[in-house]
Amino acid sequence: MEMYRSHVLVCAGAGCISSDCKSVQQALLANINDLRLDNEVKVVETGCMGPCDLGPVVMVFPDGVFYRKLKPEDTREIVNEHLLKGKVVTRLLHTPVGSTEKVTSINELEFFQRQTRIALRNTGLINPESVEEYIARDGYRALGKALSQMTPEEVVITIKESGLRGRGGAGFPTGLKWQFTAAAPGSPKYVVCNADEGDPGAFMDRSILEGDPHSVLEAMAICGYAIGADKGYIYVRAEYPLAVERLELAISKGREYGLLGENMFGTGFSFDVEIRVGAGAFVCGEETALLASIEGQRGEPRPKPPFPAQEGLWGKPTVINNVETLANIAQIILNGAPWYASMGTEKSKGTKVFALAGKVNNTGLVEVPMGTTLRDIIFDIGGGINGGKKFKAVQTGGPSGGCIPEAYLDTPVDYDSLNELGTIMGSGGMIIVDEDTCMVDLAKFFLDFVQDESCGKCAPCRIGTKRMLEILERITSGQGREGDIELLEELSYGIKNSALCGLGQTAPNPVLSTLRYFRHEYEAHIRDHKCPASACPELLTYYIDPRACKGCGVCSKACPSDAVLGEKKKPHTIDLNKCIKCGTCKQKCKFDAVITV
Ligand SMILES: Cc1cc2nc3c(=O)[nH]c(=O)nc-3n(C[C@H](O)[C@H](O)[C@H](O)COP(=O)(O)O)c2cc1C
Ligand code: SF4
Ligand code: SF4
Ligand code: SF4
Ligand code: FES
Repeated sequence: MEMYRSHVLVCAGAGCISSDCKSVQQALLANINDLRLDNEVKVVETGCMGPCDLGPVVMVFPDGVFYRKLKPEDTREIVNEHLLKGKVVTRLLHTPVGSTEKVTSINELEFFQRQTRIALRNTGLINPESVEEYIARDGYRALGKALSQMTPEEVVITIKESGLRGRGGAGFPTGLKWQFTAAAPGSPKYVVCNADEGDPGAFMDRSILEGDPHSVLEAMAICGYAIGADKGYIYVRAEYPLAVERLELAISKGREYGLLGENMFGTGFSFDVEIRVGAGAFVCGEETALLASIEGQRGEPRPKPPFPAQEGLWGKPTVINNVETLANIAQIILNGAPWYASMGTEKSKGTKVFALAGKVNNTGLVEVPMGTTLRDIIFDIGGGINGGKKFKAVQTGGPSGGCIPEAYLDTPVDYDSLNELGTIMGSGGMIIVDEDTCMVDLAKFFLDFVQDESCGKCAPCRIGTKRMLEILERITSGQGREGDIELLEELSYGIKNSALCGLGQTAPNPVLSTLRYFRHEYEAHIRDHKCPASACPELLTYYIDPRACKGCGVCSKACPSDAVLGEKKKPHTIDLNKCIKCGTCKQKCKFDAVITV
């Protein structure tokens, strides 16, 4: 094996790819080659390291130095100074929000310090295309242990006793699901990995697949052994081409190394995995729709029971687990159920990965023990609200979840406490909104999403969500009527109680939770025709401040309805009768002279 004195880890997760990490990587390699350091320094392409808003990011080991927001031209200095002379390039280090000190090592960054990484143990640290690197970090040792030292029943008991619950949204106990499937009559049995990840803002499953695909394959094989299945499918959305590519490579390497396929480890147990690429419909993440889609049918949910554990893929007993759920399995087998159960809260064990998005300073992926408070996640790890704005709420559980206002920031995050607040853990999306967000508009955004994604099979969801969206549209455009709030509530409970699948049953949640905590905002829109957050354009009145206006004329040229009047170099005015409240003048004015009330 070749030995290198230094490893440079270049994040090639989706976030960093979008900030052009490929050019940084190429420049880095070129500079390393120029100085003939290629025998001493190895560049490793990893999955997402977590702090995606700082991309492109690079870590240099063994020192653990973390460089951020790199441009290709920065790499020459890193190679000349750091890799050749051992001097850290200070100007490329990160200064955390609220601090004046630059941080050299990742271990000093609160973003990493506060995390416990189990599902994300390898993402950002290993080359996901190298099975050797996975093996070097205990990869496939759990499979070896399960096959050689444990009976299938012992594997099931270990997962049950660990307290692991499904990370795909519903939080069903994983060990119990495996036990039901193992006990169900019928053969063959199947293991299915749900990698559909359709929640807006969620990307934890994508990061695991892109950054550590073998952890999912190993877990699927362990599950196959536990329930008596020799075949697995990974259902992954077509919008994740890098995840598909890395999974394909991992499967072929797994087969080559005898970690998948016939008679694994000479134990007589066989297991193989195939990929099925979905077309990106949110409803196909629902387990029965997903199974129908794998079978080549239209991706529509069907009533439950029967549950997939009894009648799943092609009518046979099937375990369907989420990517993050599976990414925990090998560590539980290796370290034991008590180790995993020692983390978290009474009913929610272990850790959870969250995707921090929205108005928070540090966006990206974080993994924390269950029971960590929202305040710790948003303010300590997430660095608080950007632009000095005030926190307003956090939306958990995506379109199936709800919002949590400031008064509950000290709530420990687990399945039950979030349910009590009227929201759900969901798959781990956390969208943080500030004082400038209109909560009626936020509810409208999610309802628009589910209405669009409804498969249309049942009337409450197909028609009911459309009616709810129409009501929200009229409220945010100033046409709300007395009785609209009550109508929204009636429709919400009607849909929740009668829709066929989880999509419809949870679709009204964002409306119900914003009504629970921000009812006054709905009332202000309907009764006073005002948007308290000044976010709904149609409820605003546009004026030009004569003291700030320079008479540059930019707004009058841009106005689509010729509503701006005035002579050059003199303060302009807006004809409110002509103004259609499009907001263009406010966006265009460089002097902040356009004000809204
Ligand atoms: C509309 C809808 C979309 C869903 N999307 C996903 C998804 O993208 N990924 C996922 O793992 N589970 C999703 N689920 C949950 C799955 O139906 C299922 O509960 C889960 O895959 C089981 O795995 P787990 O027990 O490991 O969480 C969705 C459910 C609904 C109702
Ligand atoms: S609830 Fe909505 S998504 Fe689910 S089956 Fe009915 S129409 Fe389709
Ligand atoms: S763009 Fe601003 S400064 Fe220029 S005329 Fe309009 S309001 Fe006045
Ligand atoms: S809001 Fe739109 S329509 Fe009204 S004055 Fe400004 S640019 Fe013209
Ligand atoms: S994609 Fe690079 S840090 Fe997330």
